[in-house]
This record gives sequence, structure tokens and C-alpha cells, in this order.
Amino acid sequence: MQPRGELSSLLTAGYPDTQLDDMTLDSELRASLDRVLHEQRQRARLERFGFTPVHRILLSGPPGTGKSMTAAALAGELKLPLFTIRLDGLISRFMGETAAKLRLVFDAVAQTRAVYLFDEFDALGAERAAGNDVGEARRILNSFLLFLDEAPSESLVVAGTNHHQLLDRALFRRFDMIATYGPPTADEAVQVIQRRLAGMDTGTVRWDAVTDSASVVPWRATTLTPRSEPAGGGGPSLARVKTAMGMPRR
Ligand SMILES: Nc1ncnc2c1ncn2[C@@H]1O[C@H](COP(=O)(O)OP(=O)(O)O)[C@@H](O)[C@H]1O
Ligand SMILES: [Mg+2]
Repeated sequence: MQPRGELSSLLTAGYPDTQLDDMTLDSELRASLDRVLHEQRQRARLERFGFTPVHRILLSGPPGTGKSMTAAALAGELKLPLFTIRLDGLISRFMGETAAKLRLVFDAVAQTRAVYLFDEFDALGAERAAGNDVGEARRILNSFLLFLDEAPSESLVVAGTNHHQLLDRALFRRFDMIATYGPPTADEAVQVIQRRLAGMDTGTVRWDAVTDSASVVPWRATTLTPRSEPAGGGGPSLARVKTAMGMPRR
């Protein structure tokens, strides 16, 4: 099933087969996500008793920590399509009409059971903070919150943000759950790599050297480190990780 008409320019459809077990997650986060799945699967029963399953989720954390993958895994586990909406793109493309476009998307939320990932969610908050056009930004944010309040519980609305601090406090109360993502611990990083190399002989890899190299350049610094570093400088982390793993640097 593909979104038709105007909707197709607002969202990207995918049918992921990702599972939560494909992810390395700390136990608290994993338990929260299991709860989402459990409540969605027991939706009918919960509603019979007057409860609403968790269906509005905010995922917050630095880039590359698994927010998009989580949305895919929730879709994969529930065997639902994943529709991704890039909010920053929506706002810049449809300035003045963004609220109307959001309504189209939320109409789909009500009509088609799926996981809807609103990525770059902070674009809504940032817009307001930046004070470009305060009236317009407020209108967009207010309509999003209204749609969110009315979103039916059979679809999952997942919002992803890299800049937690740009978001309005009031926003957080509108979600049923907030999950916080962070860089992996050394053990978690090794687990992620080992899973990706499943089936390959990694017996000779010095994992302590791998994590040491990786932690020299944490995610935050990777965007700041110049590409060509003077000899003897840290060097790009991927190359150093490869060396430590005995892989060709290329
Ligand atoms: N917790 C995790 N467990 C396993 N792999 C991960 C995890 N987080 C990130 N990855 C890997 O990094 C890639 C980028 O993660 P992604 O979910 O796109 O990050 P984000 O959306 O937070 O920026 C994923 O496709 C996956 O290969
Ligand atoms: Mg992402």
C-alpha cells in the first residue's frame, strides 16, 4: 500500500522487518518499548476496560542512537507500515500551509493503522524559539498538539528529536511516553558491531582496542573533527576502529 495523491509528497512509506531483538538497548528502554508493543497488541482488551494504550511516543537523543531504528522495529514487530514525515522539510516547503498539510497527515493516522514517525520534531519548537514568524509557528505547533490529542490509539505516533532542549516543556505532557537515547556503553558498542558481523570469525579482534578507538571520537565530536588531520592526530575514528579490528583501512 502506497500513500496516494498529495499525501505521497508528505510522507515516505516503508515496510520494515526490523525487530527489537536486532537492537542493542539498555534494559529500561527495552522494557518501555516492550510495554508499547504489549499495549498495542492488547489494545482491544484495554479499551474494553476503559484504558487507552500508549500510542504517542517521543524519542529523544543524539543522532545515530537508534530513534529511527526504533520506529522501524515497532512497525516490524506490529507488522504495520512505517510512514516517515520530515517536519523540517514540511515546514520549509509549505510555509503558510503547514497546518493544512499536517491535517492531511493526521487524517491518514486516523484512516490507516500504521507507525507514523515525525522526524526532526524539534523543527516545530525551534521555529518558535527562533521567532521567525511567531504567529505561523505557534499556529503549526498548536495544530500539531490538537491533532496529537485527537490521534486514535490504533496508530502509533512517534516523534524523534535530536534537540530535546529546543522543545517546549508543555510539549512533553502531550506524549504518553518519552524515551531517551544516548551513546552506547563500550559493551553495547561491541554488541552492535558483533551483531553486524554475525557469521564472520571475529575471534582475533581485540575488542578493548575497538572501544578505545571509538570512544576517542564520540558522536558529538565527529561533526567537528576536520577530515584531514595532521599526522599523529587522532585520525578518523572509523579507520582506527578498522585497524584495531585488523580490517583493511581503505
Ligand atoms: N541501539 C542500537 N542498536 C543497534 N544498532 C543501532 C542502535 N542505534 C543505532 N544503530 C545503528 O545505527 C544506525 C543509525 O541509527 P538511527 O536509528 O538512524 O539513529 P537516529 O534516528 O537516532 O539518528 C541504525 O540503522 C543502526 O544500524
Ligand atoms: Mg533518525
